[in-house]
Amino acid sequence: MIRKIAVLGAGTMGHGIAETFALHGYPVNLYETNEQIRNGVKNVIATELELLFENNMISEKDIQATLDRIVITSDLEEAVKEADYVIEAIPELMQLKKDLFSKLDKLCSKDTILASNTSSLPLNEMMEAVSESRKEKMMVCHWYNPGHLMPIAELSYFGNMPENIYKEVEELYLKSGKQVVKVLKDIPGLVANRIQQGVAREVFSLIEMGVASPEDIDKALKFGPGFRYATTGQLEIADMGGLDIWCIVGDNLLNKMDNRKEANPILRKKVEEGKLGMKSGEGFFQYSEETINNTKNDFYRRLMIQLQTSKKYII
Ligand SMILES: NC(=O)c1ccc[n+]([C@@H]2O[C@H](COP(=O)([O-])OP(=O)(O)OC[C@H]3O[C@@H](n4cnc5c(N)ncnc54)[C@H](O)[C@@H]3O)[C@@H](O)[C@H]2O)c1
Repeated sequence: MIRKIAVLGAGTMGHGIAETFALHGYPVNLYETNEQIRNGVKNVIATELELLFENNMISEKDIQATLDRIVITSDLEEAVKEADYVIEAIPELMQLKKDLFSKLDKLCSKDTILASNTSSLPLNEMMEAVSESRKEKMMVCHWYNPGHLMPIAELSYFGNMPENIYKEVEELYLKSGKQVVKVLKDIPGLVANRIQQGVAREVFSLIEMGVASPEDIDKALKFGPGFRYATTGQLEIADMGGLDIWCIVGDNLLNKMDNRKEANPILRKKVEEGKLGMKSGEGFFQYSEETINNTKNDFYRRLMIQLQTSKKYII
């Protein structure tokens, strides 16, 4: 049974992963190499927990109890030596991850399960860094941003791991409030990111063709397909609408839609112009210093309402 957890990297994803496990009662060691991030991460987590409390998602005493369960450290050995489950959320660079897994293989107990939160790197290549016996205890556990709010976790079951070990990890995620997707093949992007990229490709193409304003395209998604997707999956929707209709519309539309094999030029142009979205003040929309925090908090609040509402319907 998984009792103690280590999270490696306390950036965008790592802090949310540590926060989620700690909120659900697990002691977590959070390892980070960057001193500034290390010193600031408890505040980041505390602010998110306070927002959860303000929105009736947790009780006031959960805030301190959660913070108390998280130990921040710059010592990798200390972080992992007693952990039953270790998940890394360090930058998406294969060599960096392999170096880390190679160290972990030596520092961790033989039973420790090692996981990567990678969005795009193959597990098989990361496994080259560990001993033969560790390979059956290594997997991808892919979170969605913001980790403490998004209810999905994609867990790999690629054939390297016996079912009892997979079940142990699945239980950890279910106990931590996540909906688990069991991914059977080691393909880049797993399931959710591939679906998202398919939608994003068409959205960027519609902007490129000037079919509607950015506001209206986002509106069409939020109040059209996205509105259904929050409660009902694509396959359920196809069954409800009738597969004959989906077949005819697919034949009529798909050959007219974007089928590029790389990022849309409109996206590349914005990147070249330094328009990176919120972090630079402009992307498809404009953001002032004051609006950035409000926009993010509003996004978090909407996710919390969705979480509370969907709890009634989740299977
Ligand atoms: N950002 C997302 O939306 C998202 C979503 C799902 C998965 N992921 C994946 O999660 C991982 C982390 O992404 P992120 O967005 O949190 O990155 P990030 O840059 O925000 O955080 C990475 C953290 O790791 C630290 N770090 C760097 N080298 C380290 C090392 N050797 N040991 C320990 N810490 C180290 C950095 O200082 C930084 O704080 C990547 O593999 C990414 O693909 C990201």
